[in-house]
Amino acid sequence: MRASTFFYFAKFGIQTILFRKKDPILGTVIVTDRCNLKCRHCSVNNITAVMYSYSQIRREMEQLYDMGVRILFFCGGETFLWRDGEHTLRNLVTEARDMGFRIVNVVTNGTFPIDLPEADLILLSLDGDRARHNAIRGDTFDTILENVRNATADNICFYMAINQINKDAVRDVCLLAKETEHVRAVSFNFHTPYPDTRELALSREEKAACCETIARMRKAGAPVFNLPGAFPYLVENRFPTPCYQCVVMENGKLSTCGRCIAVPGLCQECGYFFVAEYTLLFRGNLRILLEMLTTYLKYI
Ligand SMILES: C[S@@+](CC[C@H](N)C(=O)[O-])C[C@H]1O[C@@H](n2cnc3c(N)ncnc32)[C@H](O)[C@@H]1O
Ligand code: SF4
Ligand code: SF4
Repeated sequence: MRASTFFYFAKFGIQTILFRKKDPILGTVIVTDRCNLKCRHCSVNNITAVMYSYSQIRREMEQLYDMGVRILFFCGGETFLWRDGEHTLRNLVTEARDMGFRIVNVVTNGTFPIDLPEADLILLSLDGDRARHNAIRGDTFDTILENVRNATADNICFYMAINQINKDAVRDVCLLAKETEHVRAVSFNFHTPYPDTRELALSREEKAACCETIARMRKAGAPVFNLPGAFPYLVENRFPTPCYQCVVMENGKLSTCGRCIAVPGLCQECGYFFVAEYTLLFRGNLRILLEMLTTYLKYI
């Protein structure tokens, strides 16, 4: 991370904490909800299957920038499917950089060749060892790992959503993150139980066991991108929600925190680690602040 970017975020953080501000800093643009997969735990794929146009996405990026967002994520659906004429995902990433976003990340299912060195981080969903990943995401594990091996930059971070199917594969993914070339780290979330996937939710005890494994693997040198200070809050779902510093834009509609804010009662069962980490940070939690400084400076 460049020094100027670090000081920009430090200033934003101090102002947010001191003056209890609610301005956003992290924004996500949904480029399409079309997807080539139909994962067991996912409720947001192929609802409209529309690819949003380049001009619309550009306008949305500008709107986010004007609101103060400086960390931009592109998400889907499957981001690597996105095209508009000559324009591809790479154009969106470089456009975002030119606009002045300081960190530009992409979330992908990893089933397409990974040639995107312009992104700061590529969050690549890997949901376990081969058997458990494939039970959730179809027969894609080998293709994904082949794409990771052939990637053109070391900017990949595994992204695992832990649920009833893969809760015993946390250690496997930590080890894979440590030993796989081009992979910088791994980041976890717990399953957030949308009404159609409630059966995949973890109990408090199951979440505690997963957090213990993540903390142990982190101590043993696995490159974990999550902050242990947030684990007790995640286990008991006692972090503040929603996160006002995060916004999502899909087809011109702006949501605070996530698209899921529209699902009644879901925030009380939120499994997204970034929500716990950000809301605790911006309430002035010192342990989270220190962990974030050391972790983010290491991996971004
Ligand atoms: C919706 S996908 C879009 C990007 C891309 N298609 C992918 O799979 O990475 C973004 C991330 O959300 C995760 N996800 C989907 N449904 C979830 C849920 N109910 N709870 C937690 N994470 C979820 C996926 O596993 C994936 O890592
Ligand atoms: S690949 Fe991503 S968007 Fe597609 S179904 Fe799976 S989690 Fe959902
Ligand atoms: S707090 Fe609510 S809106 Fe935010 S990610 Fe969690 S469920 Fe979605």
